[in-house]
Amino acid sequence: MSKTRMDGKVAIVTGGASGIGEAAARLFASCGATVVIADVQDELGEAVAASVAGGGCRYVRCDVTDEAQVEAAVAAAVAEHGRSTAGSGRPAYTASKHAVLGLVRAAAGELGRHGVRVNCVSPGGVATPLSCGLTGMSPEEMEAAAEPHNVLRGKVLKAADVAEAMLFLASDQAAFVSGHNLVVDGATTAVNYAVLQSVGL
Ligand SMILES: NC(=O)c1ccc[n+]([C@@H]2O[C@H](COP(=O)([O-])OP(=O)(O)OC[C@H]3O[C@@H](n4cnc5c(N)ncnc54)[C@H](O)[C@@H]3O)[C@@H](O)[C@H]2O)c1
Repeated sequence: MSKTRMDGKVAIVTGGASGIGEAAARLFASCGATVVIADVQDELGEAVAASVAGGGCRYVRCDVTDEAQVEAAVAAAVAEHGRSTAGSGRPAYTASKHAVLGLVRAAAGELGRHGVRVNCVSPGGVATPLSCGLTGMSPEEMEAAAEPHNVLRGKVLKAADVAEAMLFLASDQAAFVSGHNLVVDGATTAVNYAVLQSVGL
């Protein structure tokens, strides 16, 4: 279990019913946060919230593409728990990845005056219902297929590892970290594969 503490904080975890979001919801709750899972999979979200030990997690239905629903979910969390200190978003890929980073930086610049920090996490491939559904593989098959291509050896990326990075950014340990993109991909995007392959690595 992480030593980072989130006592007294309220975390709204969008997409928290499954995969990376679920791992974050469980980790944040285990570190003392009150967690609100905001998702569109009601049955799964309710089940995840109910399975979190200590009762510090609940589910609200919220489609993040609908601004009114996001506002309502945040308002409900604030009304119930006092304030929200952490939220999790849904990053996307390549062009959209850059757009997300631009958005994060712009939002960090805009909201800094209100004491609000904005960061994002960019994970490498993780076996989740989403990625397994896309590849048609089981989690074990996906991890076995990815492992030989990893730059960082001796470990495969798990949703829980991504959640740890999210926890850091949401915690007081990152009190002056804003506008940051925390890449959690074992150096996959740090190297040029063509160069590695040309020297037989
Ligand atoms: N799994 C990977 O390899 C990987 C790698 C990099 C980035 N990502 C990104 O991380 C995010 C989470 O991915 P995951 O693999 O955990 O997926 P997942 O499908 O396991 O979980 C995503 C969750 O988001 C919820 N969701 C979808 N649309 C929503 C909406 N409009 N409003 C609220 N909730 C909604 C789903 O119901 C689901 O519970 C995605 O944005 C994905 O693109 C995933």
